[in-house]
Amino acid sequence: MWEGELAQEVWAYNESFPGPMIRANRGETAKITFKNNLPAHSIIHWHGLVVGTENDGQPQHAVHTGGTYNYDFEINQRAAFNWYHPHPHMMTGEQVYNGLAGGFIVNDSEEASKNLPAGKYEVPLVIRDASFSKSGALLYKPTSGGFLGQVALVNGTKDPYLDVDKAVYRFRVLNGANSRVFGLELSNGAPMHLIGNDGGLLPASTDMARIDMGNGERTDILVDFRNYKPGTKIMLRDARSGWDILEFRVGNTQEIPFYASLPISSDIEKLNSPVVTRTFSFDGMTKINGKVYEMDRIDWTVKRGQVERWVFKTNGNAPHPVHIHGASFQIQSRSGGRNRVFAWEAGWKDTVLLEDRETVTVLIRFDNFVGRYVMHCHKLEHEDMGMMANFEVVDQ
Ligand code: C2O
Ligand code: CU
Repeated sequence: MWEGELAQEVWAYNESFPGPMIRANRGETAKITFKNNLPAHSIIHWHGLVVGTENDGQPQHAVHTGGTYNYDFEINQRAAFNWYHPHPHMMTGEQVYNGLAGGFIVNDSEEASKNLPAGKYEVPLVIRDASFSKSGALLYKPTSGGFLGQVALVNGTKDPYLDVDKAVYRFRVLNGANSRVFGLELSNGAPMHLIGNDGGLLPASTDMARIDMGNGERTDILVDFRNYKPGTKIMLRDARSGWDILEFRVGNTQEIPFYASLPISSDIEKLNSPVVTRTFSFDGMTKINGKVYEMDRIDWTVKRGQVERWVFKTNGNAPHPVHIHGASFQIQSRSGGRNRVFAWEAGWKDTVLLEDRETVTVLIRFDNFVGRYVMHCHKLEHEDMGMMANFEVVDQ
């Protein structure tokens, strides 16, 4: 199904680039062994999965070359497209860039009841950018502003195309780039039907002409190819860079039936009545509230079970995609800059894009575990330079 040019010389999980797609059902237990055969220390973080500190893959858990780390956690959260990637202090950017990242799909019975496209009609798209040498080697030359590559890769492939049937497809999209923000749109202006994001299905699905995605964010979209003539070509593009991302080539199959009824809706608890407000300033390229990350310093504590309001501000050098471990949050407002909350920011999120001059307010509640977690900028070059902080969840 995938055609195009493959990158050479990557770092890989189980020799797969991107890493193997993990699928699990809510309620299952994941037992995963990470054996580090890299020439560097590393650890795996399960981005979007809410697990105890020991299973969260934080920088202090990194193991040296030859070492192993055993994960054992229960999957106790709603269906969503999560992902996994390294998280060693100061080296996350290089390791993700070299190819270490993969998807982790959680399924549940609520989602299964929606009759969404499945099998070959459910396609994960791990989108990132990269630069190559003449011989095809990946080149990583980070700058403090973040790494921006010269070409897009989809599922590890440059200039990809996908042969599609006359059917509705479900695309599970991840912005897996180190620093590049994508503004996805279809070349013919057709709508993408947005059904989900980081935290799974939205309260209500909706048609979108364009979807912006910061680093680490996911979206879940339906694209309807039923009404196109065989031979039609449609490009998934990035409106920000003008790049072509992925070409869809419509084949001459008979129309494939679609059973879901749109819009897709999902009952989502609404967080409210925060009892604490905390403000975080993402300063320059290396600091949160004036401090560079230190692995052993805890910067604040949070009471388990209580709703808090966290306010993210920046005074330049954005975008900063802000990511929090240990809980999902709900976005309340954005002022300045784009001055609105977008449709893909409804429901549950674990990462939110903060652009220059913007202030974003979220509500968050840590329900599941006590222990240490991190919050950081998911522009990986900023994270590596210290735009990250530890906090601890404690019982009352
Ligand atoms: Cu996707 Cu702390 O990271
Ligand atoms: Cu940043």
